[in-house]
Amino acid sequence: MSAGDRIIRGRILSFADDPATAGPSARRYIEDGAIRVAGGRVAEVGEARDLLARAPADAVVDDHRGALVMPGLIDVHIHYPQTQVIASYGAQLLDWLHNYTFVEEQRFADPAHCARVADFFLAELFRNGTTTALVYGAVYPQSADVFFAAAEQAGARMIAGKVMLDRNAPKALLDTAQASYDESRALIEKWHGRGRLAYAVTPRFAVTSTAAQLDAAGALVREFPDVYMQTHVDENADEIEFVGRLFPEARDYLDVYARAGLLGPRSVFGHCIHMTGDEVAAMAESRSVAAFCPTSNLFLGSGLFDRARLVDAGVRIGLATDVGGGTSYSMLRTASEGYKVLQLNGQSWPAGEAFYQMTLGNARALSLDPAIGSIEPGKDADLVVLDARATPAMAHRMERAASLDEELFVLMLLGDDRAVRQTYVAGAPRKA
Ligand code: GUN
Ligand code: ZN
Repeated sequence: MSAGDRIIRGRILSFADDPATAGPSARRYIEDGAIRVAGGRVAEVGEARDLLARAPADAVVDDHRGALVMPGLIDVHIHYPQTQVIASYGAQLLDWLHNYTFVEEQRFADPAHCARVADFFLAELFRNGTTTALVYGAVYPQSADVFFAAAEQAGARMIAGKVMLDRNAPKALLDTAQASYDESRALIEKWHGRGRLAYAVTPRFAVTSTAAQLDAAGALVREFPDVYMQTHVDENADEIEFVGRLFPEARDYLDVYARAGLLGPRSVFGHCIHMTGDEVAAMAESRSVAAFCPTSNLFLGSGLFDRARLVDAGVRIGLATDVGGGTSYSMLRTASEGYKVLQLNGQSWPAGEAFYQMTLGNARALSLDPAIGSIEPGKDADLVVLDARATPAMAHRMERAASLDEELFVLMLLGDDRAVRQTYVAGAPRKA
């Protein structure tokens, strides 16, 4: 133990594997546990009495007894330029983009605006217990540049990219295939792999990219094989029809991306609601990731994600807010709406599996499980402290909770930012 170390005491809960396949032994739980954090990483995890007995008298001890200390939550699809688009009334995807999103995103030409929003956005993620996210910027390269600078300042593990779009949007929001290639490449060279940051090549979706631009995105992914790729697919019926008209040569929507070389284990496709059997098979075969965005899918009336179908086909899945099509920054609320979407599809989702998904499951979806997603020595000290009695209604309900599973379900269904007592980013408390 040395100066700067911190001990975080509470009920430590983390998953070593997916409880859906590995069963109850996947769960690691210490009722009166503690984590010693050193240099931004987890140095030790164990019984509180053992860790405290070895700690120097002046050790900083954050006492969260009664609350659950879990790995920081992870969001695999969110748009930082949409913090003032969230909760915009009355439209489905294409109208919503044109009426609200494409108007708002033009403000991100101004780096000062980007900086103000990036700071708000990161603070809001931390208030909600989210410590890592896969983030869309706006078209302007400065929007990604400023976001990375803010994430670096906060010490957070973030993946982001400038959006590429060269058609079917207002002129002020368009780049070109060449400019988007050049700008993305410069951002990769500046930010990818710097500290805890990584770059995601981000063609917005097939509606707003020419084949030449998608090919440029594919060239970047080939030249920089460890960058991520993020886009949208099969979200909305009108969108799918539009893509069919724009790319008549493609077998289906996903094939538009496949032809550009954009499928793969570091590719995250938002929504994946209305998929053909061929598309599901291509997702599984390429090890691509489907991002389940329940609040967005409900809000925009897009449809119901068929999780069981994708899981059964072997598709990797992540869970995401998709703010501002999504209506909450909270991964807890997102899981709650996810549960209800699955109910409408005749599927279930035990709380243990949902918490696995929000932590190690999403870390695996981003191939970041060596660094985050569970509480183990050597991993980053990104943690969330959750209180299932945070509100009167939650405390009242908890009088009838007899097990950890019930407590997790209460947190999942009734929890939001109020249930987040603290968020640690690389060991530092970040919840204001
Ligand atoms: N498809 C293309 N752009 C977007 C976006 O910003 N949000 C959602 N939900 N879908 C999209
Ligand atoms: Zn999205």
